[in-house]
Amino acid sequence: MTTDRSRPLKVQVKKRKGRTLAQKLWLDRQLNDPYVARAKREGYRSRAAYKLIELDDRFKLFRPGGRVVDLGAAPGGWSQVAAKRVGAEAGKGRVVAIDILDMPPIVGVDVLHLDFLDPAAPDRLKALLGGPADVVLSDMAANATGHRQTDHLKIMALAEAAAMFAREVLDPGGSFLCKVLRGGTEGDLLADLKRDFAKVKHVKPAASRADSAELYVLAMGFRQVSDA
Ligand SMILES: C[S@@+](CC[C@H](N)C(=O)[O-])C[C@H]1O[C@@H](n2cnc3c(N)ncnc32)[C@H](O)[C@@H]1O
Repeated sequence: MTTDRSRPLKVQVKKRKGRTLAQKLWLDRQLNDPYVARAKREGYRSRAAYKLIELDDRFKLFRPGGRVVDLGAAPGGWSQVAAKRVGAEAGKGRVVAIDILDMPPIVGVDVLHLDFLDPAAPDRLKALLGGPADVVLSDMAANATGHRQTDHLKIMALAEAAAMFAREVLDPGGSFLCKVLRGGTEGDLLADLKRDFAKVKHVKPAASRADSAELYVLAMGFRQVSDA
């Protein structure tokens, strides 16, 4: 038998210890995921942080002193990245985050612990933002039911609500990045985004698991609200 010394050994969770098979498989994957290890090393709260890092490196979403809204922010990886890149950690710019789940504070980030679909949420976010946004991010995902169509509808409803909010708060030239599911942005959402933004594309960053239907829609160059 030959061993490849350049490759780290694969960790396998040995016993089920009262875990379901799904839990064991999840744990196996976490323990062998290079992004999980990197996030731990570099102090990010989620492996998702690397999706945003890659997209900002490629598309230059953030500018120093910019204003950012992070919808569905917990546990906070994206907010950490945004705070670093606009300089909110050093008192510049502004990052406003919202999640149904509570999350520990992040320096330079204002966190609302609220359902984004609550009628009060948009106004509360706007008040915290204190002016138009440069970037609206949404990594919101409702808990999966396992029923494909239901999950699809739920995530698309969140994406539609996020897009509507983005149109209300973005400055001309601003960007909107939103999680969707493969095949899910056809139709009204995509048509609306194409009307209001100069460039709209689908992106799948390397840290987004290949076997997941997750995809991001990136709309750049906000034109202005068209009330038509
Ligand atoms: C994939 S996680 C976000 C991970 C985050 N981007 C990070 O880097 O740490 C999705 C989040 O969306 C939140 N979420 C789902 N529906 C929501 C809603 N209606 N309002 C606010 N947050 C919501 C969930 O609670 C969950 O924390």
